[in-house]
Amino acid sequence: MNIPLLDLRAQYLSIQEEIDQKILEVVSSQRFILGPEVEEFEKEMAAYSGAEFAVGVSSGSDALIISLMALGVGEGDAVVTTPFTFFATVGAIARLKAKPVFCDIEKKSFNIDPAKLEGVLESQLRKEGISAIKAVIPVHLYGQCVDMTPIMDCAKKYDLFVVEDSAQAVGAEYPTPEGIKKACTLGNLGILSFFPSKNLGGFGDGGMVLTDEEELAQKLKLLRGHGSRNKYFYDILGGNFRLDALQASILRVKLKYLETWHQKRREKALYYNKIFQESGLVEEGKIQIPEPLYKDSGVKNYHIYHQYVLRAKERDKLLEFLKGKGVGTAVYYPLPLHLQKCFSYLGYKEGDFPVAEKATHEVLAIPVYPELTSEQQDYVVTSISAFYKS
Ligand SMILES: Cc1ncc(COP(=O)(O)O)c(C=O)c1O
Repeated sequence: MNIPLLDLRAQYLSIQEEIDQKILEVVSSQRFILGPEVEEFEKEMAAYSGAEFAVGVSSGSDALIISLMALGVGEGDAVVTTPFTFFATVGAIARLKAKPVFCDIEKKSFNIDPAKLEGVLESQLRKEGISAIKAVIPVHLYGQCVDMTPIMDCAKKYDLFVVEDSAQAVGAEYPTPEGIKKACTLGNLGILSFFPSKNLGGFGDGGMVLTDEEELAQKLKLLRGHGSRNKYFYDILGGNFRLDALQASILRVKLKYLETWHQKRREKALYYNKIFQESGLVEEGKIQIPEPLYKDSGVKNYHIYHQYVLRAKERDKLLEFLKGKGVGTAVYYPLPLHLQKCFSYLGYKEGDFPVAEKATHEVLAIPVYPELTSEQQDYVVTSISAFYKS
């Protein structure tokens, strides 16, 4: 059996007529950059997320850069984040000539560990002086929110901006003391990626920044169009960070199905949990299955399962074995950011973030998407069992 890690063709076929119609409409209109499709999509995403403002941009990576630019992050500033994330989170900080500062992750969720944040801030401040740390970027990895209440408390205490990297967590919810809120509405700014493989993915690159702060929203809009309010007059230094109309129109169609898709992914995850438990692999300590943090807090989208990630013994051998069985897998991520060559100038070394480093040797994402069948899931689990019994 051949089971890809993700089957985007199956998703397209399920909504092909609507999508094709939308694409034709945009092509007929010949309005490709920003325009009404983008504006409508921004309104719909703001309503979906519960944010006041949404600004469509060219990618999740650009959404991070433009967010930090809007907050005035630059040379001489430090920004704290996790070493266990996609490169773009840290790349954005470094590209603005600010200093990435890392804080280790929680074992259970793979997200930045709020209990360690204050210690990191204190030790940095002793080195840098209090004005140096400008922001923190919690990353809601794999589709589950960071434990944001202690992060927000810490941000308040140390006067930090909070930019939520929600690239993998569109619509994921978190129980705040004031009620349930969605990713992107917990900090000052939240970013999304519409990379094709995301739960809400376009037919190319796309991204978004969401915020409740009008001034920031206006600045983001200015920055995404070269800092120009009136054509050929430039108030501030921006760039071309625009979302195009074709992507927005496709994403508008997909947005209508997003909650159903989240629900289906969750059902697949629950089924995996069940059959992994029954296989005995969990009890024997061969694998660990995901343990969602907010499942019992009355939160519907406690996890949107952008990825279903196991911890696995002999992970690399298992991965090769599964390849031979036709099962698609991936390692998100094989090397933490503090040990990447391009960040060697920061002076981190192996052993600095042991929880993140351990995770890089153990994590394995297996197929999870709405169209996955239970027969396919059975095959994935049987194949994993076969590996450990061989
Ligand atoms: C956590 C995280 N941050 C940022 C990004 C960057 O998004 P994009 O690929 O749209 O530039 C991604 C997407 O891959 C991501 O997973």
